[in-house]
Amino acid sequence: MSIRRISVRSSAGTYTVVCGAGALSTAGKMIAALGRFTSTHVLSSPRVWRAVGKKTMRGLGTALRPRLHFFDDAEASKNLRTVEEVARSLTRAGADRRSLLVAVGGGVVGDVAGFVAASYLRGVALVHVPTTLVAQTDSSIGGKTGVNIPEGKNLIGAFYPAKLVLTDPLMLRTLPPREFRGGMAEVIKYGIIADTRLFAFLERNLEKALARDPEILSHLIMSCVEIKATVVSKDERESGLREILNFGHTFGHALESVTRYSRYQHGEAVAWGMMAAALLGHEIGLTPAEDACRIVALVRRLGALPPWPSVSPAKLIATMRSDKKSRGGNLRFVLSPKIGKAITQDDVPIPTLKSVLHFAPRLRGCCAATHD
Ligand SMILES: NC(=O)c1ccc[n+]([C@@H]2O[C@H](COP(=O)([O-])OP(=O)(O)OC[C@H]3O[C@@H](n4cnc5c(N)ncnc54)[C@H](O)[C@@H]3O)[C@@H](O)[C@H]2O)c1
Ligand SMILES: [Zn+2]
Repeated sequence: MSIRRISVRSSAGTYTVVCGAGALSTAGKMIAALGRFTSTHVLSSPRVWRAVGKKTMRGLGTALRPRLHFFDDAEASKNLRTVEEVARSLTRAGADRRSLLVAVGGGVVGDVAGFVAASYLRGVALVHVPTTLVAQTDSSIGGKTGVNIPEGKNLIGAFYPAKLVLTDPLMLRTLPPREFRGGMAEVIKYGIIADTRLFAFLERNLEKALARDPEILSHLIMSCVEIKATVVSKDERESGLREILNFGHTFGHALESVTRYSRYQHGEAVAWGMMAAALLGHEIGLTPAEDACRIVALVRRLGALPPWPSVSPAKLIATMRSDKKSRGGNLRFVLSPKIGKAITQDDVPIPTLKSVLHFAPRLRGCCAATHD
């Protein structure tokens, strides 16, 4: 198994994602190559640290002598109070402008660490060590950082790319099964929007991937990192291309919202959303039947999802319109004209959308999955 270095362009300069089994063991050397820091501070959560703390400390090596800072990484803690607590903890530990912050965790730790790094003393260097499938393939790349406020998710934040990302699939061994499967839904998303070969690879290997076969996983993660790196290098500020990463998310966010974020792991809602987006694409004459069927069949192989909520299509549409990210209540969907490509579409006829939402709960039984 090899380690690959993938470059990401950003307005703050180009940075590297070191990706592959064993990437963590290069941490000490790679960080030293970034320059000299007055002190190193690791931000993580007690749960993550129990799982990967020892491995991380070994990877960082003895020279850096990191100070450790922890917070509970529940989504509910991704807020400004936590940002303040972390900043105070850094101050007490003597962090200055030339200190380094290393985020070790999933998207919650990464988003908080990123926002702290962007704002602490107006910016300190940041390294990501992502420990979930979502963090490794998505949130650690592209520089989006942020926290939630009661009015909505990720409404306070900054673009602040890391100086280095260390992505080691071996960190995922301890990830809870639901988190892993949710992350795998987003891996399928990358195949649908950008890489027909990745999609076909998943069709051949999804069960092995779900069993966390290290080689399969390494290959998948590298493919996703490359796609994300390409997309955000071309469109850092989400003015166009980056939107395709939201395939399945207009539906997914609505499902999460009407169930008050308690029924689905995010990726599970996206899994439903991707099947609905495939059907919607087909209904408006964009997605060929065969491609829509392949998407539904592959998503179904992720396993049983929490059921579609018993909420009317009209209510779901109203929820989509009130999504903080929708522009002035406009409904905008990412749809696929064929596997490996995605476009945004904002003139979907409402009656068509309604009939898709009516049918969606039955998608679990629609196409004959070939590998069940
Ligand atoms: N910035 C971005 O571009 C971006 C992109 C996608 C998602 N996000 C954000 O990421 C967050 C979701 O992140 P996530 O899906 O990575 O999950 P998470 O950070 O919520 O972690 C999920 C759970 O797994 C645990 N965990 C993490 N790594 C582990 C490991 N190796 N072993 C055992 N347990 C481990 C955590 O403690 C937590 O309980 C959301 O807040 C979302 O908004 C940000
Ligand atoms: Zn997502």
